[in-house]
Amino acid sequence: MAARRLDGLAVAASIRAELQPRATAFAARSGRVPSLAIVLVGDNPASELYVRNKQRAGSEGGLSVAVQRLPASATAREVLVLVDRLNNDDGCDGILVQSPLPAHIAKADAQQVFDAISAAKDVDGFNPYNVGLLTQGRAVLPPCTPSGVIELLVREGIPVGGKHAVVIGRSEIVGKPMALLLVQRDATVTICHSKTKDLAGVSRDADVLVAAIGRPGFVTASFVKPGATVIDVGISAVDDRALAVELLGPGSPRLAAFDKRGSVVVGDVHRSVEQVAGALTPVPGGVGPLTIAMLLKNTLAAAERRLDLRTAG
Ligand code: GUN
Repeated sequence: MAARRLDGLAVAASIRAELQPRATAFAARSGRVPSLAIVLVGDNPASELYVRNKQRAGSEGGLSVAVQRLPASATAREVLVLVDRLNNDDGCDGILVQSPLPAHIAKADAQQVFDAISAAKDVDGFNPYNVGLLTQGRAVLPPCTPSGVIELLVREGIPVGGKHAVVIGRSEIVGKPMALLLVQRDATVTICHSKTKDLAGVSRDADVLVAAIGRPGFVTASFVKPGATVIDVGISAVDDRALAVELLGPGSPRLAAFDKRGSVVVGDVHRSVEQVAGALTPVPGGVGPLTIAMLLKNTLAAAERRLDLRTAG
């Protein structure tokens, strides 16, 4: 039997609908709409698309989203100067520096940029202070993708308490915070990665399997216990037609989109999993819309918190 499809678009729409009255109330209290600044350095096409989607969702949700662009040649110092200005801008509630930064910015310098974002405005939840709160189970601004996955599980009525959750991927953005949020909800959590022995065997023990490695179609049916819930966090653009046919299936209507655009977005989970899993998130239309909804939620939470602190002081 085909897996139940977990509709990330519908869940994201209900989260965003819940945010609307809060955005209106904030505007009534403060005299301005909650505001998010997105720092975009260079012209990476995937980043341009992510940022456009975030901008559209923000303005539909009653938030102001200002994209602050810097050229691809910008130095880490120039990005730091911009972050510093936004940290000190009282009308800016949330700051997101779109990752990745251009390759000429060294990893340690990029880290410095992310660390420089004020914890109170860090809507990505990447700042070490916010990561610390997350590890202690009291995050104010949890990372958007993992918290979106939790919202999806809760709202779709999929329990995780006492279940075995396996997270494939140990990134700071998804894998690690995902594992922390699952353990806080009483799951027994295993984190797998490229050095894990018998990755398929470990994954096959999962009641909830989260794939976050960015390798198209990597998780096949042999990784999945019958009836398990599978969450596909991967988003990869495939521009090889043979690979697109293998991943989507020869009869897929999405091949027409490939032929039109020359690429198609796919997840980490292979279509063969549909016949084994109990529930599955699609790509696109699964975790992606939830990440954006949680970004708006964090922006609103940051705005409300700053306003509360000001009015209390
Ligand atoms: N690039 C891809 N995903 C993300 C994200 O969640 N936050 C930031 N800042 N950059 C990204």
